[in-house]
This record gives sequence, C-alpha cells and structure tokens, in this order.
Amino acid sequence: MSDPLDGLAGGTPLEPAEREGLLQTWITFRGELNEAEQTNISAGLAWVHRQARKDILNEGFMRNLHRRLFGDVWAWAGEFRSTPRDLGVEPALIRSEIRLTFDDTRYWIEKQTYQPDEIAVRLHHRLVLIHPFANGNGRTTRLIADLLAERLGREPFTWGPQGLDDIGETRARYIAALKAADDHDIEPLLEFARS
Ligand SMILES: Nc1ncnc2c1ncn2[C@@H]1O[C@H](COP(=O)(O)OP(=O)(O)OP(=O)(O)O)[C@@H](O)[C@H]1O
Ligand SMILES: [Mg+2]
Repeated sequence: MSDPLDGLAGGTPLEPAEREGLLQTWITFRGELNEAEQTNISAGLAWVHRQARKDILNEGFMRNLHRRLFGDVWAWAGEFRSTPRDLGVEPALIRSEIRLTFDDTRYWIEKQTYQPDEIAVRLHHRLVLIHPFANGNGRTTRLIADLLAERLGREPFTWGPQGLDDIGETRARYIAALKAADDHDIEPLLEFARS
C-alpha cells in the first residue's frame, strides 16, 4: 500500500488484509482495484472542480476530498486510520499534526515565507508524512497541493513527465525526492513536481 511498486502487479490477488473495507466485493486483483479507484477518482474530480471558493486548508476539506475520491471503493474513505503504519504518525496524533500543518501553511502564505510552488510542495510532503488515511494518501495530498498551487496563482503540478501513473523510474525519483525532503532538502521534490 505504501509500497512504491504498488501498481506493478495488476494481476496479483489482493491479500485479505488489503480487502478490509472493500465495498466492491467482486474485486479480486490489484488491477481491478486500481481501475475501480480510478473511476471513483474521476467522479471525485468533478466535485473538486465545484469547490473553487472553498477553504482547503482544514481537516474537514481533506476528509471530504478523500471520501469523494475513494468513497465508492472503500468503507473507511474520509476516516483517518486507527492503526499504526511504517510511514506516518501514531493514529492518536493525526488530527493535531494535520492542524499544525495547515496552520504552518497559512502562516507561510501570509508571510510569503516561500514561493507559492514551494508552499504547496511542502504541504504535500508534510501531509503525506503524517499518512492520515489507510490508503490514498499520495493521491489525496498531491491533489491538495495542486489545488493550493492554483489558489496561489500557479498551474497544477505535473508530478513527473507522465505523472505518477507511470510506475517505473518516475516513481523512484518521486520517492527519493520525498526522502530528501524528510532530510530537509525540499529542492528535489520541488523540481520533480514540475518535471
Ligand atoms: N519513504 C517515503 N517517504 C515519504 N513518503 C513516502 C515514502 N514512501 C511512500 N510515500 C508516500 O506515500 C504514498 C503512498 O501512500 P498511499 O498508498 O496511502 O497513497 P496512494 O494514494 O495509494 O499512493 P499513490 O497513488 O501515490 O500510489 C506515496 O505516493 C508517497 O507520497
Ligand atoms: Mg496506495
């Protein structure tokens, strides 16, 4: 799930643990799951585009967004995870970390601490590191970064030459850039997001 090679094996059956909360119970293979999620996301994006004037820097919007993107596929869409993961904060800390992150983001915007792109990319990195949901963190928080970039007068990011549906080298570059950001070097992620 947070495995960077996630999408490689479309023909692999899902493990029982991976099926938890799966609403479309006919789904057996990873490829089928990816397709169902993609259909849901496309519908969710139509909703996103009607939110042009909504404040996006809050927990409620993020959860609504996650529910719109994944709610036809996963019962737990829009709910924060309740179990620990390799990546991400302890479940009990998710809400406060999210709040802190959005507060910081608002401060950066107000004080123009960074350029608009950098504010949005830093927000993505912080949110994905918290890893609030059981799955869909990458997609949800990249979209939040895109929406913030647009609100700050920029284009949405490309997230690599073909976007991150390309699962090979682009994905590796993205993960490496996230790790650099973990080590306080935001430049590779900033560059990747516009490459
Ligand atoms: N080592 C890492 N350091 C920081 N972030 C990471 C690391 N590995 C993965 N991530 C982030 O976690 C995401 C995967 O989490 P999750 O499976 O919840 O999201 P997703 O939306 O299903 O992912 P994606 O659509 O990107 O495949 C990756 O897209 C990336 O943003
Ligand atoms: Mg995933």
